[in-house]
Amino acid sequence: MSSESGTPRRIPRHVAIIMDGNGRWAINKGWPRLVGHRKGSERVKEIVRAAPGLGIEWLTVYAFSTENWKRSTEEVLGLMKLFQRYIQREAEALSAEGVRMRFIGDRRRLEPKLQDLMAWIEQRTAQNSRLNLTVAINYGGRDELTRAARRLARRVVAGDLDPDALDEAALDQALDTADMPDPDLVIRTSGETRVSNFLLWQAAYSEYEFTPVLWPDFTPETLTEILHRYGTRERRFGGVTS
Ligand code: IPE
Ligand code: IPE
Ligand code: MG
Repeated sequence: MSSESGTPRRIPRHVAIIMDGNGRWAINKGWPRLVGHRKGSERVKEIVRAAPGLGIEWLTVYAFSTENWKRSTEEVLGLMKLFQRYIQREAEALSAEGVRMRFIGDRRRLEPKLQDLMAWIEQRTAQNSRLNLTVAINYGGRDELTRAARRLARRVVAGDLDPDALDEAALDQALDTADMPDPDLVIRTSGETRVSNFLLWQAAYSEYEFTPVLWPDFTPETLTEILHRYGTRERRFGGVTS
């Protein structure tokens, strides 16, 4: 649900990142796009490790959108392999570091092997609370809202939900992000200034930061600079400040 309104926080509790620019980073160096994705996944590890020390409690990263299936089979399969490897290789470290890992997006379209690994790591890290890491895979804000609407419609038809009782809280709880706080800050790397279907509902009052840095070059220092800028912002949530 919405973060507590009014009081501005110096440190964003929930940071969401659109990790963009892997392909360009690789192409600029004359390498295949997948090399950029591999480097990008190394960056995720570093940011996950640095986040708790920066005061971040929730970190959500956009790894694969519902639109990314349009890419070549080679790139899509390479990315899926990378997600599997990340879970397998990081399970130990994530557990040791107190990271709770979860996923948002429609996982039914993913390979069964990957789906199993996702369920496995979610369960394995379920008791952790130092950092809540959420990875968006086959995620699209419109798709998430559509699936939520379908879920609620089914409940109405079943007589389990009165349409007049359908309020913002009910819709919020029907989303993949149920029980997660809204992001305070959304960062997009690579210089693009669009949301590309990310957290459309949840980011209604988020602050946005756009950096030209390509994701494979994004370091904890880049994040620290962005957090400093965020700290100077005034959040009003539609109200006025005295
Ligand atoms: C972001 O990097 C990662 C994914 C979308 C999977 P891109 O692959 O979009 O990199 P650019 O935007 O082509 O440079
Ligand atoms: C957004 O990046 C999706 C992810 C970072 C996973 P894209 O590269 O897919 O977005 P567009 O196509 O530039 O809008
Ligand atoms: Mg891109």
